[in-house]
Amino acid sequence: MTQTDHQHQKDGQPQKAAPPADDTTMFIFGASGDLVKRLLVPSLYNLDRDGLLDRGMSIVGVDIAKHDDESFRGHLKDFIADKAADKHAEGGGQELDEDHWQDFAQRIHYLQGDFTESDVFEHIKGHLEQADSDNALFYCATAPRFFGDIATGLGKAGLMKEGDNRYRRMVVEKPFGHDLESARALNAQLLEVMKEEQIYRIDHFLGKETVQNILVARFANVLFEPFWNNHYIDHIQITAAETVGVEKRGSFYEKSGAMRDMVPNHLFQLLAMVAIEPPAAFGADALRSEKAKVLGALRPWPREEVRENSVRGQYRAGRLQDENVPGYRDEPDVDEDSNTETYVAMKMMVDNWRWVNVPFYLRTGKRLSARDTEIAICFKPAPYAQFRGTDVDRMNSNWLIIQLQPNEGMWFDFQAKRPGPELEIDTVKMGFAYKDFFDLPAATGYETLIYDCLTGDQMLFQRVDTIENSWRAVQPFLDAWAEDDSVEGYEAGSEGPQSAHDLLERDGRQWHKIGEVTGPGVAPVPGSSRRQTD
Ligand code: BG6
Repeated sequence: MTQTDHQHQKDGQPQKAAPPADDTTMFIFGASGDLVKRLLVPSLYNLDRDGLLDRGMSIVGVDIAKHDDESFRGHLKDFIADKAADKHAEGGGQELDEDHWQDFAQRIHYLQGDFTESDVFEHIKGHLEQADSDNALFYCATAPRFFGDIATGLGKAGLMKEGDNRYRRMVVEKPFGHDLESARALNAQLLEVMKEEQIYRIDHFLGKETVQNILVARFANVLFEPFWNNHYIDHIQITAAETVGVEKRGSFYEKSGAMRDMVPNHLFQLLAMVAIEPPAAFGADALRSEKAKVLGALRPWPREEVRENSVRGQYRAGRLQDENVPGYRDEPDVDEDSNTETYVAMKMMVDNWRWVNVPFYLRTGKRLSARDTEIAICFKPAPYAQFRGTDVDRMNSNWLIIQLQPNEGMWFDFQAKRPGPELEIDTVKMGFAYKDFFDLPAATGYETLIYDCLTGDQMLFQRVDTIENSWRAVQPFLDAWAEDDSVEGYEAGSEGPQSAHDLLERDGRQWHKIGEVTGPGVAPVPGSSRRQTD
């Protein structure tokens, strides 16, 4: 986790600059794929622009597609220039600096090869022998079925052997396995040819500034931690709502569905950030041990309790942002009878001392009413209401809303006296919006993660035990759904299936409205009317 020198506070105070990473050759497998042009190379360009890459560092794209250095650079540049000019694109809004690009592009190369064959690894070896530095970072941006073969190929060619003056690391994209068994098998295959310290299992949510801020909010302030437990917290909601549909990823998504795509990785990582015990040190081992513990404490539901604690939904045609959008079954590369879920809601329990009886409700879905990734923490109501005419049962709760995107910040609902001769209590809001205090640089979110791979900081990467504990907790859902894959339709542009609302209602609770927190100000509080008067 680093701070780059282009981050400034609003008062112009620059943040501490990080040093450039060591000279390295970075090999990217699957170089002609979408991720590389959309996120990886733009992030490397941003890091270079900020002086965080060594001047000698080279990037070698490896793939089966036909390219040479020049055509590969051209293919990347056209895409990146268009995206940089588009202020709505992720990490966009800052024109490409032509001179800088020319300089940066000279360090990009291409190696054509089939990574299921051993030849390619011999070529990589040859390439490294010519390089100034012996350090190498191997990035798997391929389809997941190649991850294991690439690791084995690197291992057999002796490419993962480290020495006094050289490191060898491998980055593995998600999805890491498609269930507990396959995740274990992949871990075993990797660990046969490399050590855990060489493996960087990436989860791009952890590259988001606001996700990292959860730890800072919790552990750099004295205010929150004393209340962060079952004595004061009633329940926690974690939402990752998207307006986009499945886009062009139908064939991938058909096999994955919302659960595998979002839950054991992104949503559980958010849950872990909220629920972990304070780590003994701010370092990769201590933090990841705490995460593994809390994910290991997630209650695996018995098969017969899965249905009552989860909801599978699939979007139907509807209207979103003034446009008619098709249903999932009409998307390209999707089966017309598909029962793949595009929405999932679930209730999880963390079986430990701190969180006993505090449900964590998780939901994620595509084609929902608004884009909103947030953690909503509902505190228990005040134990006693001494105000005349105000019934304790009708007092609103305090809510802390941590919005991770698109309006990054934190908002806190509390009760205040409405001015006037009558004693009237109303719910008001205190807020912190990132944009009011910091300039958030145009960034993809991958910058921090790539820099960390290059500098050997594993703090924001998944460890073998966090991966396996996460799959263990979702496995009962996958098993139950394999027997009964019925899925409930919801209209595109809505807040999800009715059963998801029933899931909370059964517990006497309500979902926080998707996209409701858009900045400081008063917003309706779920669960009761805003006005508390008689
Ligand atoms: C990816 C999923 O990991 O995360 C996508 O595969 C999803 O389906 C995306 O859209 C969401 O990420 P973000 O950063 O846009 O919230």
